[in-house]
Amino acid sequence: MTHFGLFDSGIGGLTVLRRVVTAFPGCEYSYVGDSARAPYGGRPYEELWQINKGIIEFLISRGVNHLIMACNTSCSQFLDVIRKEYDLPVTGIVTSIPELVDEAFKRVVVMATQATVNTHAYRSMIMAKDPSIEVIELACPTLVPIIERGEFNLDDLAEVNRALNEAIIFDPSHIVMGCTHYPFLEEIWRETCPKGVTLVNPADGIVKALSGIEIKGGEKQGKIEYYVSGNETRFQDIIESDLVLGSSPTRFWLTCAL
Ligand code: DGL
Repeated sequence: MTHFGLFDSGIGGLTVLRRVVTAFPGCEYSYVGDSARAPYGGRPYEELWQINKGIIEFLISRGVNHLIMACNTSCSQFLDVIRKEYDLPVTGIVTSIPELVDEAFKRVVVMATQATVNTHAYRSMIMAKDPSIEVIELACPTLVPIIERGEFNLDDLAEVNRALNEAIIFDPSHIVMGCTHYPFLEEIWRETCPKGVTLVNPADGIVKALSGIEIKGGEKQGKIEYYVSGNETRFQDIIESDLVLGSSPTRFWLTCAL
């Protein structure tokens, strides 16, 4: 049985988990939401590497046999070293973006954390598929704290729209939501986004990449375990309000001892 492990700085990776669970409902899943240490985007490399190592080793100790690097900030910095260090298949969110790139991609704005932007990993992956695509990377450091907090006030909404408008100014064909938290804004952004602009969720690339390899799942709905290092109420709200994630048994692990 394939047992996927995913983690992120908080609720963000749930947007990836949702896509993968929908595509492979019979598998097992363990998800670590490290909300105690969110956001990851401004953390120094070495500090974030130690955090990543601790969580990956915890996930492996829970029986995970396929790691999905759902967090863009972690994936863009550590994917290669993780593949060298750990003996299990690893699917990365950033490295799956070529699965989604087609001839409609002309000018792309990648919205992401500062750390992800600094690596230029999205630009490299997209241009490796088609060097004629213009890629602009935009750091949006204000968004993750707003999304983690939930319940947007008017100032938050203004900031969420300001960030999108900053991307729209470049007249893109596509805007890549290069941080797992951003799909929580998708409905709001769709209202403001001009018709010709496609919002891309890189989690769809992960599903495509996984569809090309052997995944072992059971006939029945699999199991999801959640481990949360900080604010569990927000997790519970999202999981219970979501039909896909809410239909699986959940378990909460509330102390931050990673
Ligand atoms: N959601 C994560 C990402 O995809 C991390 C965001 C953060 O904690 O700054 O990059």
